[in-house]
Amino acid sequence: MQVAAHGPGRVNLIGEHTDYNAGLCLAFAIERGVTVHAEATFDNRVFAHSSSLGEDDVFAADNPAQTGGGDWRAFVRGMVAELRKEGLILPGARLRIDSDLPQGAGLASSAALSSALALALIALGQVRLEDPLELARICARVEHEWVGAQTGLLDQLTVLCGREGHALALDLRALSLQPVELHLGGWKFVTLDSGARHANASSGYNARRAECARAAHLLGRESLRDASLEDAASLPHPLDARVRHVVTENGRVRDAARALRAGDFAEVGRLLDASHASLRDDFEVCVPEVEETVALMRGVGAAGARMIGGGFGGSVLALLPPGVRAPARSLAVTPAASARLV
Ligand code: GLA
Repeated sequence: MQVAAHGPGRVNLIGEHTDYNAGLCLAFAIERGVTVHAEATFDNRVFAHSSSLGEDDVFAADNPAQTGGGDWRAFVRGMVAELRKEGLILPGARLRIDSDLPQGAGLASSAALSSALALALIALGQVRLEDPLELARICARVEHEWVGAQTGLLDQLTVLCGREGHALALDLRALSLQPVELHLGGWKFVTLDSGARHANASSGYNARRAECARAAHLLGRESLRDASLEDAASLPHPLDARVRHVVTENGRVRDAARALRAGDFAEVGRLLDASHASLRDDFEVCVPEVEETVALMRGVGAAGARMIGGGFGGSVLALLPPGVRAPARSLAVTPAASARLV
């Protein structure tokens, strides 16, 4: 038996570092992503090949061991192990992983890989696992326990629930999502890789998440979702600034969804700029290469530009008005369909 599954990357329009604070995000899946070809074998081994990296891995199908490193192998081993806990029977498999998504560019290459792996292995093992929320949680468990990145559910939910032509307004406390149709007219969203690689497992990402948890604890709240600017001001530095970012960013997500529905793209641009300033000054997840890329985007005439993803590197998202030419090497991004068998 042979199957193939595609997991898309994602662009987060706005709502950064809010997901693990039970907050709001507005994101969409994109066409580029990761495709996993899987074939059943019967020798109790999983043989995996990454064609973009030219690397291989082999491990026991019934007992995947931790690799000790957070690279692509940890995703494969972790996914086999976590799906076995859900009842996957896998007598052996040969996997080939193809990707046209730059890794470490803030476009959720991790969620693209884990969702494609999950769908391919589930189809191969014929397990009944269809609920996107359940699948998203399994993908996140792989990141937490096998890769070492304490990520939220933004990326996994977006790639598993993406809808062509729509952004998703995600509420990570209610665990609900609402599609927001994107009628951009001549405007377009583009991303540009800053060239600085980011990896959630080894950057300051986990430290930021821990700071937010500490701030919530000091405020006596379950999460920062209900925190206020007064709460932020009561905390020592830098926790005050971290909370200020989360509180104001949730507000910007609401405003951006409203502006998009109203077709007020100049306002969306202003909100992107404000989000970037907050990520740079309050959340402190920017690096010089990202700042230069934001400046370049504004220089060509973007209505707004900001870093996207976990930070400490990765890509910049910009909103370009009609007639503005995107800089060389940038990628036009439009909302695409969710992870799927192909
Ligand atoms: C990464 C994580 C997400 C989210 C963003 C920041 O992409 O995987 O869960 O926290 O960073 O918004």
